[in-house]
Amino acid sequence: MSSRPELQAPPEIFYDDNEARKYTSSSRIIKIQSELTERALELLALPEDGVPRLLLDIGCGSGLSGETLTENGHEWIGLDISDSMLNVALEREVEGDVLLGDMGQGLGFRSGVIDGAISISAIQWLCNADKSSHEPRARLKAFFGSLYRCLARGARAVFQVYPENIDQRVLILNYAMRAGFAGGVVVDFPHSAKKRKEYLVLTCGPPSINTSVPNGKGVDGESCSEDDESSGDEENQTVCVSDRHRPRKKQRITKKGKGREWILKKKEQMRRRGNVVPADTKYTARKRKARF
Ligand SMILES: C[S@@+](CC[C@H](N)C(=O)[O-])C[C@H]1O[C@@H](n2cnc3c(N)ncnc32)[C@H](O)[C@@H]1O
Repeated sequence: MSSRPELQAPPEIFYDDNEARKYTSSSRIIKIQSELTERALELLALPEDGVPRLLLDIGCGSGLSGETLTENGHEWIGLDISDSMLNVALEREVEGDVLLGDMGQGLGFRSGVIDGAISISAIQWLCNADKSSHEPRARLKAFFGSLYRCLARGARAVFQVYPENIDQRVLILNYAMRAGFAGGVVVDFPHSAKKRKEYLVLTCGPPSINTSVPNGKGVDGESCSEDDESSGDEENQTVCVSDRHRPRKKQRITKKGKGREWILKKKEQMRRRGNVVPADTKYTARKRKARF
């Protein structure tokens, strides 16, 4: 059976009481969740002014990631679909407010009130259809659309993800861009099978200098403690993608204009459509003098 939890059962069933307890008592998982959240916070690039920010933790689980947000001085609201995971969060008396809900049905927050969002190892669950009523594309649309609305303009969302394959990554990114986000994927330690981690770094609002995607760690010669075994995945370190606000590329026009060949082709097309087009001569497509 696959080791990917997403392929074993729906999240609210996979993360039952037993799994929730096991998850939260593993020192390895606690360490990983904390490190991933620290990195997500770094990529969130909040102003360093000591002011606590209101953050969302999507798929907050038992609150391990939320604890790192608290340690960094922020307020947070966590959302999770598994009541077993949230029960553990309540038992552990996390500082954040936690909500039981399905991100695929959209987030119900007021517009522009959230300063940033993180998600650690949760978004890829949206790519699975666990019920006959589930349509991953519709769920991604509802999620990213509602996230975009509740974030303050210029705020970032950073999601550490484990897409199953390139198609899933592209699907997730496409829906983020359609919702209006700018950004792309940051890959830390791209050449290490064990340390490789992928983050979706999204900014709310049209592209600007702040929406450029930061560099991944361990990309060029930065040391990586374990064996530098290639993951066999594609060679992406930082993948920027276009977004719907980006202006279309201008058609390249040379000094000589579009050229005789192009004009002859267009004239031929017009003739085939039944238009009256002047005959081709040696003057066709000849550049006119700028002024007389
Ligand atoms: C790997 S765990 C991450 C846990 C969390 N970051 C922590 O520190 O405990 C992934 C979490 O995503 C949640 N999840 C998966 N699909 C979800 C959905 N559609 N809506 C909300 N939460 C979801 C799961 O219930 C699970 O708690």
